[in-house]
Amino acid sequence: MKGQLEAWEKEYSSPDPLWKGPAPGISLRGSRVLELGCGNGKTLSALSHEAVGLDHSLNALLRCPTNRASLVRGEVLHLPFRDGSFDTVLLHHVLEHLVEDERVKAVEEAIRVMVPGGLMSIRVFSVRDMRYGKGTVVERNTFRRGNGIVYHYFEPDEVRTLLHPLKEIDLQEMVAEKKYAPGAVRAELVGTFSSDGR
Ligand SMILES: C[S@@+](CC[C@H](N)C(=O)[O-])C[C@H]1O[C@@H](n2cnc3c(N)ncnc32)[C@H](O)[C@@H]1O
Repeated sequence: MKGQLEAWEKEYSSPDPLWKGPAPGISLRGSRVLELGCGNGKTLSALSHEAVGLDHSLNALLRCPTNRASLVRGEVLHLPFRDGSFDTVLLHHVLEHLVEDERVKAVEEAIRVMVPGGLMSIRVFSVRDMRYGKGTVVERNTFRRGNGIVYHYFEPDEVRTLLHPLKEIDLQEMVAEKKYAPGAVRAELVGTFSSDGR
């Protein structure tokens, strides 16, 4: 969507970029791992072995540790990789920054570059997240915040529909109460899907 790359470049050029905090535990299958929308490398740094990280923001990639990953500047809608290049593809908090037709295209591309029998790990914010509704409406459940970045909030069945060519291994909502804001929750959908069924 227009203006998104500029908004991300601005975000990552600030001394305190928004994407930080501890990285989650991640299931991997095989040795060839790709993270789409790797940002400043929080998830890449937590992986047990080397991976390829792709992001469209140069400022994000410049902040990524390079000892753990090969970095590629690119667009999730047109991946510069051959079919079946990766055993595991991570989509952690990147799909929520795309509008509907882009989400469909990004998932098609992610599946294209996975091997048959590959694994996809996904994390997105859910409609119960405390930030739902902040900003101006772009599409259903999608808002552009003051920093210009678009956020879409998912329902579980929407994730299943989007990833329908894959087999669901698990999909859970993880909810964390915010200590200093009673009643406010950070709500994420966390899932693992496999291309076994193809
Ligand atoms: C919230 S950050 C997630 C960072 C990372 N996945 C992690 O877990 O630490 C989202 C990232 O997706 C990237 N991104 C958003 N839209 C993109 C696109 N169309 N193509 C490539 N990267 C994109 C942004 O630049 C940003 O670095």
